[in-house]
Amino acid sequence: MALPKSVLIREVGPRDGLQNESVWLDTNEKRTWIDLLAAAQLPYIEVTSFVHPAWVPALKDARELAQSLNKKDKITYAALIPNEKGLAHFFEANLDIGAMFVSSSETHNKKNMNQSIQETLPVIKQMTADLKAEGRKTRAYLSTVFGCPYEKQVPMDQVLRLTEYLLSCGIDEISLGDTIGEAHPLQVERRLDILLERFPADKIALHFHDTKGMGLANIYTALKTGITIFDASSGGLGGCPYAPGSSGNVATEDVVHMLHKLGIETNVDFPRLIRAAEWIEAKVDRTLPSHCLHAFHSHYLIKDE
Ligand code: HMG
Ligand code: MG
Repeated sequence: MALPKSVLIREVGPRDGLQNESVWLDTNEKRTWIDLLAAAQLPYIEVTSFVHPAWVPALKDARELAQSLNKKDKITYAALIPNEKGLAHFFEANLDIGAMFVSSSETHNKKNMNQSIQETLPVIKQMTADLKAEGRKTRAYLSTVFGCPYEKQVPMDQVLRLTEYLLSCGIDEISLGDTIGEAHPLQVERRLDILLERFPADKIALHFHDTKGMGLANIYTALKTGITIFDASSGGLGGCPYAPGSSGNVATEDVVHMLHKLGIETNVDFPRLIRAAEWIEAKVDRTLPSHCLHAFHSHYLIKDE
């Protein structure tokens, strides 16, 4: 299939990136990074997570942050929500998109959510109805689609069954998670060929962690199957605290750079994207895995200031 003309980037750095971070960023600092990401015109920013603060201490200021965003037009602000209590916090903050999550492997779901997949599904169904009733867009992550840190192989039948269930709830977009960076291009092609026989490409996003450096190759493979929505994290920060071996998401700068070189539009302002990544790298005070962050300097790229 020919490459698409345009792609949507879902920026998950402030949520997936920070949830695994040992350096504490206070609420003002988180908001500053989100503002820099918004200045780069990323159309979707997942700003935080309304999970239990003891489970993800790095995001314990989720309510305060979400209620004090400097919201910009044309940017949708999303948050991760595990259950009705998290949903109440989401509504309180008046965000745009609720992102729910379930794993395709039983052990990861149990470790991550303290419940079985069968217990999680009706909660997602109810939250989707509640979100839609309030006019909100909905997204759901299906984790460990390409491999599980505990169970290793994840049967394709299970991925199909859960994708079908989530779409039947009326969820707008399902993000298939390569939670620990196990996916490789051949597997991505095979799994997507099967999925796209049954489900429309515009309902499917891909969420690659870049543990083994396969992120860009996997995205290129997925582009050729017709997928046009990809998650990424500024600087390549990230990882699931309940998935041993997981590291950061594929870096947003690297994804956008590759897409632009392929002639694919993203509407993202690349120089300002580099600036946001430079900012978070300085804040966490270590070298982040992004390539483009180190190949470019925003100071030389940004001409109009
Ligand atoms: P639990 O302990 O089973 O919760 O945790 P519970 O329902 O038994 O309630 C226990 C207490 O927690 C109660 O308080 C609740 O009110 C409270 P008490 O009565 O004892 O005072 N509680 C909450 N408090 C604040 N916010 C809430 C909330 N819910 C209950 N939302 C729970 C269950 C789901 C909350 C917990 O397991 C949890 O927070 N898990 C989240 C783990 C997590 O954030 N993982 C990383 C995100 S997923 C990911 O990274 C993968 C992804 O990126 C895709 C990919 O890469 O594949 C999305
Ligand atoms: Mg993730």
